[in-house]
Amino acid sequence: MLVSAKEMLDKAREGKYAVGQFNINNLEWTKAILLTAQECNSPVILGVSEGAGKYMTGFKTVAAMVKAMDESLGITVPVALHLDHGSYEGCYKCIKAGFTSIMFDGSHFPIEENVAKTTELVNVAHNLGLSIEAEVGAIGGEEDGVVGKGECADPDECKMIADLGVDFLAAGIGNIHGKYPDNWEGLSFDTLAAVNEKVGDMPLVLHGGTGIPDDQIKKAISLGVAKINVNTECQLVFQEATRAYIEAGKDQQGKGFDPRKLLAPGFEAIKAKVKEKMELFGSVDKA
Ligand code: 13P
Repeated sequence: MLVSAKEMLDKAREGKYAVGQFNINNLEWTKAILLTAQECNSPVILGVSEGAGKYMTGFKTVAAMVKAMDESLGITVPVALHLDHGSYEGCYKCIKAGFTSIMFDGSHFPIEENVAKTTELVNVAHNLGLSIEAEVGAIGGEEDGVVGKGECADPDECKMIADLGVDFLAAGIGNIHGKYPDNWEGLSFDTLAAVNEKVGDMPLVLHGGTGIPDDQIKKAISLGVAKINVNTECQLVFQEATRAYIEAGKDQQGKGFDPRKLLAPGFEAIKAKVKEKMELFGSVDKA
C-alpha cells in the first residue's frame, strides 16, 4: 500500500538513518526500486519530477502504474509516491492523481509568496493525508533543464517555512543536482547544523545525493538529514550497463534486441545501486 512519507521520515530522523528517494522514469526503474526495497526490508520514496511525469504521459498514469505494481509485486514495505520539485500547479495535479506526498518548490518565489503558497498547500495536503516537503535555498545543478548553483539556505527562513507545518524540509547546503564539479567545496555542515538547531525535530532532506562522499552523507544524517534524493547515479549505472551489453554485441545475439533483454542489465544495475544506497543510508530492515 502506498503511504504518506511522514511516518517513515519521522522514524528515520529519530533513529538516525535516512530513507532514500529514488527518482523513477519508467516501468523498469519503478520495478527495480520496489523489488530492492522489499528485499532490503526498507521503506522507500519514489520521486517523480514534472519532466518524468510528462514523459510517462502524466501523473495519473504514474500513480496508476505504481499502485498496481506495488500490489502485483506483493510489496509490503512502506512506499511513498512523491512529487519531486513540484510547481504550484503540479502539486494540485499530483494530489488529484493519487500521489501520497508532494514537494512544493517555492524557493524561486519571493519569500512572502513562497509562504502563502506553502501554507495553502500544507492545508490541502494534510486534509487529504498527504505529506509535504518544502525547499529553502535553491539546490543548484540541472533539474529538468533548469540550472542553478548550490546555495546555502538562511536558517531563519528555514524556521519560517518549517513553522508553516510542512512535514520535511529541503535546505540548500551547497548541494547540487547531477555530477559535482571537481572544485566543489563539499556540503556546508555549518549551515546544516544551524538549520537543524532552528527547526527542532523536523526531518531534513538532502537533494543531489549523487556523488556526495560517504563520510559527508553519514555526517549529514547525524545532523538531522532523514531523506536523501538520488537520481543521476541510477541513470549513470543504467547507461553504463546498457552500453556494456551493446558493446559486447549481446544485442546481436539471439533475441538480445528484445527490450526486455536489452534493458535487463540496466535494471539489475539499478537494483544493485539502490541496495548500496539503502545500506549506506542505514534504512535496511527499518520497514
Ligand atoms: P541527483 O540527480 O544529483 O542524484 O539528485 C537527485 C535529486 O535531488 C532529485 O530531487
